[in-house]
Amino acid sequence: MEEKRNSFGGTIGFVLAAAGSAVGLGNIWRFPYLAAKDGGGLFIVIYLILALTFGFTLLTTDVAIGRKTKQGPLTAYSKLHKGFGYVGVLSCLVPMLILPYYCAIGGWVIKYFIVFLTGQGNAAAADNYFTSYITSDISPIIMFLVFFILVAGTILLGVNKGIEKSSKVIMPILIILVIAIAIFSLTLKSNADDGAVRTGLEGLKILVVPDLKGLTFGKFVNVLVDAMGQLFFSLSVAMGIMIAYGSYLPKDSDLEKNVGRIELFDTAIAILAGLMIVPAVFAFSGGDQSALGKGPSLMFVTLPKVFESMGMATVIGSVFFILVLLAALTSSISIMEAIVSSLCDRFGWDRNKTTICAGIGSFLFGIPPILGYNVWDKATLGGMTILDMMDFATNSILMPICALLTCIFVAYVIGVNSIHDEVRISSAFKRQKLFDIMIKYVAPVFIVAILISSILEALGIIKF
Ligand code: ALA
Repeated sequence: MEEKRNSFGGTIGFVLAAAGSAVGLGNIWRFPYLAAKDGGGLFIVIYLILALTFGFTLLTTDVAIGRKTKQGPLTAYSKLHKGFGYVGVLSCLVPMLILPYYCAIGGWVIKYFIVFLTGQGNAAAADNYFTSYITSDISPIIMFLVFFILVAGTILLGVNKGIEKSSKVIMPILIILVIAIAIFSLTLKSNADDGAVRTGLEGLKILVVPDLKGLTFGKFVNVLVDAMGQLFFSLSVAMGIMIAYGSYLPKDSDLEKNVGRIELFDTAIAILAGLMIVPAVFAFSGGDQSALGKGPSLMFVTLPKVFESMGMATVIGSVFFILVLLAALTSSISIMEAIVSSLCDRFGWDRNKTTICAGIGSFLFGIPPILGYNVWDKATLGGMTILDMMDFATNSILMPICALLTCIFVAYVIGVNSIHDEVRISSAFKRQKLFDIMIKYVAPVFIVAILISSILEALGIIKF
């Protein structure tokens, strides 16, 4: 079974596929908002330090577990220790819950791409357009299906012809687009009704200049927790994905260097996303920083209005939404691969049959989050829609628990040497001391902080 396992053709294929997984909606709709809210350069510096320490540790662990066991997340843990199979079950449950709603959002992206491409940008910029779209009956389901077919089709083509090949095509296009839009955004200028001239470069300051005004200890902790939470989702750790992709990484490919490349890619694209969004919103939303929301409201409400005010909504809106579509596609493909590889390894099923079964299941699970804005709009909990609940259960609860158990498993059950040995197969482990300290002592504390703050925030006890 091990001999027949798929493998990426080489380092480039692995790095682009893993970076494609990491670069997703999180980079585009959350990083810019957090950076602008949390003191600009202050957030970016903290994020970079955490990426090189905390993120490095979690990513190295996932990739090493995958490459060592040559298993998808469901069976990887039990292969290392019989008593820890339940962590594998959790690790596989996370992508199963994320895929349906991530693809439902992918469908919204396709819709907006079509709307802008067909010159209807002004309609998309109208108040209530987004709400009336997501509460409509049929179109969100059809768009979800289209997005889903693209994802499942790529998985059906296999690791090399599907995932690796598509990443090699999509990622360079995505980089060119994000750089081009960022440059364009920095050159923007708008004349407000009050006669003030606002430029993209002024918006740049909000993003990169550290703002330490009014910084208290409490605020600093808030910035730290925001950065840790963002890093977690953005690097695709604790979602089973990097275990699955690690299982296809050839033994002679430098694991430590690859982890560094993925971190670099993901962070660079997040900062570039900040450069493309913050200056544009600043220049065209009256210089009001609070206009920069996060999540769907930033992407589907604020930005269409910004594109419309620029007077070139068709071009800039189409280019922006194709960029988002590509980012969401490569991430969704990796989420689905974590499920498919798990089922193939656990039950010995053939890849095509598994993809079709997982595809039907995920598609059906994608219907409730869509209906949660329509006929099931009463199904809420603490103000959360079904989609919000699935997002909360995975991001805020299951992923931190899964990461915490993984740290404990590596540090105190199988021992850090098992990861050292795996890394050393392909190179010296340069950051080994840092890895040991992080996984034994620091990362568990950070993860517990993320978990507690998410729960307190959801309960309305603290507000970030
Ligand atoms: N890492 C992916 C994202 O940021 C899942 O959207």
